[in-house]
Amino acid sequence: MTTNWQEIDLFAKNLIDRAGETIRHSFRNKLQIETKSDANDLVTNMDKEIEKFFVEKINAFDSSHHIMGEEGYGDQLTSMDGVVWIVDPIDGTMNFVHQQRNFAISVGIYEDGVGMLGYIYDVVLDELYHAHKGHGAYLNNSKLEMLKDVKLEESILALNTTWVTPHDRVPYEVFGPLVHKVRGTRSYGSAALEMAYIATGRIDGYLTMRLSPWDIAGGKVIIEEVGGIVTDLFNQPHTLLSKASVFAGNPAVHKIIYEHYLKEKLPKS
Ligand code: IPD
Ligand code: CA
Ligand code: CA
Ligand code: CA
Repeated sequence: MTTNWQEIDLFAKNLIDRAGETIRHSFRNKLQIETKSDANDLVTNMDKEIEKFFVEKINAFDSSHHIMGEEGYGDQLTSMDGVVWIVDPIDGTMNFVHQQRNFAISVGIYEDGVGMLGYIYDVVLDELYHAHKGHGAYLNNSKLEMLKDVKLEESILALNTTWVTPHDRVPYEVFGPLVHKVRGTRSYGSAALEMAYIATGRIDGYLTMRLSPWDIAGGKVIIEEVGGIVTDLFNQPHTLLSKASVFAGNPAVHKIIYEHYLKEKLPKS
């Protein structure tokens, strides 16, 4: 049986729309904020509520679909076989809590490991970045153009400042020269939005040492649909079954950074 992607696409967009509405309404209420792995790793009642909503609705839509979600209401997956939804109910929870902006719902839908549908929804701006493999990428109803070559010295990179301070994961010698070479760096605090910005050409690359599958699953489909590249920092594809480093970018910028700044320079971890 072939998968009806148009039907899944409509269903996913409807869920994202409803989830966004719920989140916007939640601004009126007091948030319940807890911490997870450390004092800065925040989770709220809304992260949990939205993920539960996705899991319940997807299960009712098609019980053969598998779900991976940050807050643990989905399945514990060891394989990407079949149709797999990878859901980050709120990407940028710290921004959600502190700023009530610069966060997104991120959803990627894969079949046998291939990204078929990707969504990043900026809830506050009501901007949905979305792509269907082979059918183009969009910001709301506007089709995104294919990415054009950008010179490294004219590029803007998203990079968390943590990675350019003394750190056990990456020596200063790796990212320091790169930061000096490019036109500028930014840190938005939502991996999903940073990936959406690459797809629109607002920034040209995003490098980070460790993300989870739900941080990148939606963005990967969208970026690839406009000719961008998403790998780990060793230029290897992601399995989406474990945490990994991430290097997403415009194809020209990705190539030059990998060849000149990363290849054989990063410690294996
Ligand atoms: C986080 C954001 C942030 C990135 C963190 C992620 P969350 O996701 O994407 O930008 O630096 O590593 O964990 O926890 O807000 O969904
Ligand atoms: Ca989190
Ligand atoms: Ca996330
Ligand atoms: Ca999250």
